[in-house]
Amino acid sequence: MQQLEKDTHPIIADYDADNYDYRSHWDNRAYEQWAESYAFKRLLTGIGKAQWLIDFGGGFGRNTIHYKRRAEHCVIVDYSIRNLQLAASTYGPEIESGHIFLIRADLYHLPFIDSAFDVGLIIRVLHHLTEVESAIKEMGRVVGHDWLLDVPIKHHVFAPIRGLMHGEAGKLSNWEPRKVENGDTPFVSFHLAMIRKLLTDYGWDSKVIASVNNFRRWDQVLPAWVVTILRPLVYGLEKGTQRVGKGWWGPDQFVHATRKTPILPQASAMVLPPEPEGMPIAALATKVICPICQIPLQWSSDAARCQNCSREYVRTGLVWDFVPN
Ligand SMILES: C[S@@+](CC[C@H](N)C(=O)[O-])C[C@H]1O[C@@H](n2cnc3c(N)ncnc32)[C@H](O)[C@@H]1O
Repeated sequence: MQQLEKDTHPIIADYDADNYDYRSHWDNRAYEQWAESYAFKRLLTGIGKAQWLIDFGGGFGRNTIHYKRRAEHCVIVDYSIRNLQLAASTYGPEIESGHIFLIRADLYHLPFIDSAFDVGLIIRVLHHLTEVESAIKEMGRVVGHDWLLDVPIKHHVFAPIRGLMHGEAGKLSNWEPRKVENGDTPFVSFHLAMIRKLLTDYGWDSKVIASVNNFRRWDQVLPAWVVTILRPLVYGLEKGTQRVGKGWWGPDQFVHATRKTPILPQASAMVLPPEPEGMPIAALATKVICPICQIPLQWSSDAARCQNCSREYVRTGLVWDFVPN
């Protein structure tokens, strides 16, 4: 059984603070969106069809467009209630049909049985997970086959310039994560070899499959008319460097991890819940457990209760909340 010690729990990036709307981060970032979409198309085609896919830290579902047709069921997990509500307003019909589920949960303490999902994704989230070893162990626990990870690396091609300015050039090649203080929000970047070693330790083979965002912010520093002229050239270069820059060029390295020995999900011995009006939950409920006691839950149409710790996990609208009180 796990214990959730509030004092020792790593700080969770709070995307609900100060009424923050994460969608605004994407204003004027057409290049980054495009670079990720280009990588996604290729990589998800390689992984093939999934039965159950999980998007760890999926936010408001920005990436759902890339995977929703490739999986029978998709689960977006995030800590931010606001982002999940935004996802609910975008994907209402798919949620009501049981194609997409929205779960509020902590990536360090997930409410799922082992290998509940055949495919997992984590995009633009690892940089918030300072206790990366326990986060990778816990997320990997619930994925049975394929896992696509976007790894923010500290030793990308432009890092030595920043390293010289901050007197950190000598620290780029060691395996120590690079932590940056930014108020209460944790930011961290990693050595790619260190993340791959962790994956190996937890039973995964891994391959670096794309270097992404190889010219990050170029379109934010140049005048708009220059951007318009250079766009075809930079997009062409991004396509090429996604392949040749694997492991060293860009700040986001996409890694495809596959289980050395794929694990079949174990059935959880739970009582099937009554379906809430217009929202199938029974299929997902077979995969859900108490994130603290790790035992099946007692379900009603708008709450799931742990008989061991008596915690109640409630549904608000289209979002189920599995963050323990
Ligand atoms: C930069 S956003 C990325 C969202 C989405 N993956 C995307 O690419 O648009 C990071 C997300 O990670 C979530 N997050 C960070 N730490 C978390 C944790 N410990 N548990 C669950 N979600 C977390 C945040 O709430 C936020 O929505």
